[in-house]
Amino acid sequence: MIYRQIGRSELNASVVSLGTWAIGGGSWWGQNDDGESIKTIQEAISQGVNLIDTAPVYGFGHSEEVVGKAIKDRRSKVLISTKCGLRWIDKEGSFYFTRDGKDVYKNVSKQAIKDDVEMSLRRLQTDYIDIYFTHWQSAEPFMVPVSETMEALCEFKKEGKIRAIGASNVTPFHIEEYIKYGQLDMIQEKYSIVDRRIENELLPLAKKHHITFQAYSPLEQGLLTGKMTKDYVPEANSARSGKKWYQPENLVKVVDMVDGWQDLCRKYECTPTHLVIAWLLSQGDNINVLCGARKIEQLEDNIKGADIVLDTADIARMRKDAQGL
Ligand SMILES: NC(=O)c1ccc[n+]([C@@H]2O[C@H](COP(=O)([O-])OP(=O)(O)OC[C@H]3O[C@@H](n4cnc5c(N)ncnc54)[C@H](OP(=O)(O)O)[C@@H]3O)[C@@H](O)[C@H]2O)c1
Repeated sequence: MIYRQIGRSELNASVVSLGTWAIGGGSWWGQNDDGESIKTIQEAISQGVNLIDTAPVYGFGHSEEVVGKAIKDRRSKVLISTKCGLRWIDKEGSFYFTRDGKDVYKNVSKQAIKDDVEMSLRRLQTDYIDIYFTHWQSAEPFMVPVSETMEALCEFKKEGKIRAIGASNVTPFHIEEYIKYGQLDMIQEKYSIVDRRIENELLPLAKKHHITFQAYSPLEQGLLTGKMTKDYVPEANSARSGKKWYQPENLVKVVDMVDGWQDLCRKYECTPTHLVIAWLLSQGDNINVLCGARKIEQLEDNIKGADIVLDTADIARMRKDAQGL
């Protein structure tokens, strides 16, 4: 496993990290065996994946609780990232969505995130969070200036409750604002070989400011692993439903593209999963690839992606294939 410094912080994280959204279960991902989730997280740590990502909203507290149980007796061996600002305990903020009977609001006000950090610490059974992200940025009608959010985050850092500050689902404007008021070490954004929207502005801006870019949904929620067949239909209302690449006409194209990489799989003695992870890692030395997994086999498969170094011509060919979709 390769480790890279997170932004300018004192933290060094494995380039492949483990996401626990699916581990939270609920209607997004369906029922889980928590025992299996705990074993997967613990196995990740044993195999050198030292950054585990969660959020309060993943299973409405459940993902954080499972992570808390998994890391309790090995806290010093692992970096935990969690998030603030997506809230369902009151109705303050900008309404975002309803799920599993909960109305979720965006609210990154100082008071809201002061409550959030305490609740996350309790669920995670820890007294510090390594990287603390704002999950989504404030939106109309409940706008909160980044200066206010950052003031609270910097206080948490001074108090030792968090070790580094991250922001997720940002625009270039947000990045410029965050760095005006303190040190931003990581951004977490959607990035896969078939969704390269962030390449024009966010990725270069992160690089310019020494911010680690953490790519979420790098496997397009499993589609890029080659495990889905052309007739796959996501369950209604699940995490995959309504997503661009899961629309029948797009899914067929992605499945064909991944099938067309069999020669690359033979050349590198790897799976499509390894190819797409290695491809992301080749896009910059500030990239971290955040793969979700809830089974040990998936985790072990994803880890191997960090060991593959693709030739320049193959990187270009994969990009061209994805651009042609
Ligand atoms: N900041 C944000 O707004 C945001 C948004 C989305 C995600 N995230 C974070 O990013 C993490 C990763 O994103 P994601 O979970 O959306 O998508 P992902 O990492 O692209 O895909 C994860 C899913 O793909 C399947 N999978 C994983 N490894 C596999 C393998 N080797 N072979 C076959 N299937 C495999 C599993 O599906 P099954 O479990 O169904 O088998 C897994 O749950 C999340 O867990 C979360 O921590 C953050």
